[in-house]
Amino acid sequence: MHRHQQEQEPSGPIRVLSVASEMFPFVKTGGLGDVVGSLPAALRTEGVLVTTLLPGYPSVLDALEGAVRVAAMSPLPGVEISLLEGHAAGHHLLVVDCPHLFRRKGNPYLAPDGTDWPDNGVRFACLSRVAASLAQGQVPGRCPDLVMAHDWQAGLTAAYLHYDGRPAAPVVQTIHNLAFQGRFPVADLERFGLPHHAFAVEGVECYGTVGFLKAGLLFAARIVTVSPTYAREIQSPEWGMGLDGLLRGRADRLRGILNGIDTNDWNPETDPAVLFPYQVGDVVGRKPNKRAFQAEFGLRQDPDVFLLGLVSRLTGQKGVDILADIVPRILDDRTQLVVVGSGDVAMERALARLARQYPDRLACHIGYSEQLGHRIQASADALLVPSRFEPCGLTQLCAVRYGCVPIASRVGGLADTIIDANEAAMTSDVATGFLFSPVDGDTLAGAIRRAATLFRQPARWAGLQRNGARYDVSWGRKAQEYARLFRRVLGRAEIGMAEFDQSSVRRRPPLAGLSQSTRGARAAYQAARRGRVRANDPFGRPG
Ligand code: ADP
Ligand code: GLC
Repeated sequence: MHRHQQEQEPSGPIRVLSVASEMFPFVKTGGLGDVVGSLPAALRTEGVLVTTLLPGYPSVLDALEGAVRVAAMSPLPGVEISLLEGHAAGHHLLVVDCPHLFRRKGNPYLAPDGTDWPDNGVRFACLSRVAASLAQGQVPGRCPDLVMAHDWQAGLTAAYLHYDGRPAAPVVQTIHNLAFQGRFPVADLERFGLPHHAFAVEGVECYGTVGFLKAGLLFAARIVTVSPTYAREIQSPEWGMGLDGLLRGRADRLRGILNGIDTNDWNPETDPAVLFPYQVGDVVGRKPNKRAFQAEFGLRQDPDVFLLGLVSRLTGQKGVDILADIVPRILDDRTQLVVVGSGDVAMERALARLARQYPDRLACHIGYSEQLGHRIQASADALLVPSRFEPCGLTQLCAVRYGCVPIASRVGGLADTIIDANEAAMTSDVATGFLFSPVDGDTLAGAIRRAATLFRQPARWAGLQRNGARYDVSWGRKAQEYARLFRRVLGRAEIGMAEFDQSSVRRRPPLAGLSQSTRGARAAYQAARRGRVRANDPFGRPG
């Protein structure tokens, strides 16, 4: 039994260490960064205080304010790091500063030539090892109650704790995408600081490699993935990517909790990227944005044209090749498509070629642009999400909030967050978009045709937009589910929010005041509740 489960403050806040390789607004390659950046604020209102542990990339170090070195460690053989603490963009951060592993500009995983950094194994083993040491209380005052390990990059955290066998905070392993598993050669086992006997089927071994995500799934106290449908899909051989057996074996520890989005960032009334601001649900007020967007992309400015959008990583997962194949079929002089995306070079080239072939119907921005990612949602009539699989997906959530109607494959989180405009749903006025399956060119083209037909019936189309705007895309209820899960893992009783005194929380950063000894932590916490906090102590330790 974990120390934390035996002796925790039953009605106090839960202190979570969220361990991740990306976090918006400092570093983002996809939805993982969005989730890691937006969940903490929502959890705070549920009595869960999050500190995020990040690698010390240049963008993170640049953003860190009031950085203090709280520890120096050698987490792996031959690797020395400084653990920095500070704040950035309202977040409480711990940062693993290790110049030779993390001070590299650009993409967090890829070298400038587009291949993986050759030392990615050591880089993220280092991150996980530091997380494990924090979970064991090795840095006084910064021991969390629980660790949230995101994706493979944090996967070894639970394995280190298992092989160390010391008391530690429990780990909840989150799967954002099972396609990325972090597999590395067995020859690196020692560099990862893992014992030889760890290389076993009941250990970190994964099809002859060291599997970081596999280790997390095996040793974590609980597994969360980002939608209920994906939680079911990954237990099947078709979508389990080799880990379905393990996941079926741990089915009682696995659940899906949908993602939300930051509704402050995603507010068309205040969004700086939106040229003509409008209120959520104002289907008329958004119209000037379409015209301006058509102009921006050199397309004919025509409100009656059906304007499709796609904003995505360009990879096989996202089904962009399926879309590219049917472009000649779906685009005509009443249908345009704008693509904002980057990724697979062959797909980038194919789209650029199509744009040259159909200059008045298809326009592309090949690259990453946060601004265009927002603007497309405020401007396009419909958003295409033809993913082959989709753990949750965030773009369809942004779309419905902005009055852009999603046309998506019926998989994973897309199936869980979109109500298809079939006759029944239209009659009951609950539809929010279009779903198609199986995922192929014909069904995608069929869904686009169905959507185009409704688009030509403005009142019915506006109904879809308004239903979407009413759909709750916020973190609210999802954060409650996380908080409930964390309490259950920690063996804490459910508490009513009235009993939870948030004023005591606001005074201290998330991991503050917890000493290695839980008795000390409790005294510190109780003193802080009574308001005896040293004025100048950055960690708010009781005076
Ligand atoms: P995934 O994480 O699999 O890429 P999600 O839908 O969960 O998919 O999240 C993708 C996030 O990245 C969204 O916020 C989306 O708007 C953004 N995004 C993806 N590609 C681009 C791009 N080329 N430019 C701007 N934003 C992008
Ligand atoms: C992954 C998934 C995406 C999900 C995101 C955030 O990148 O591909 O579906 O929304 O993580 O959880």
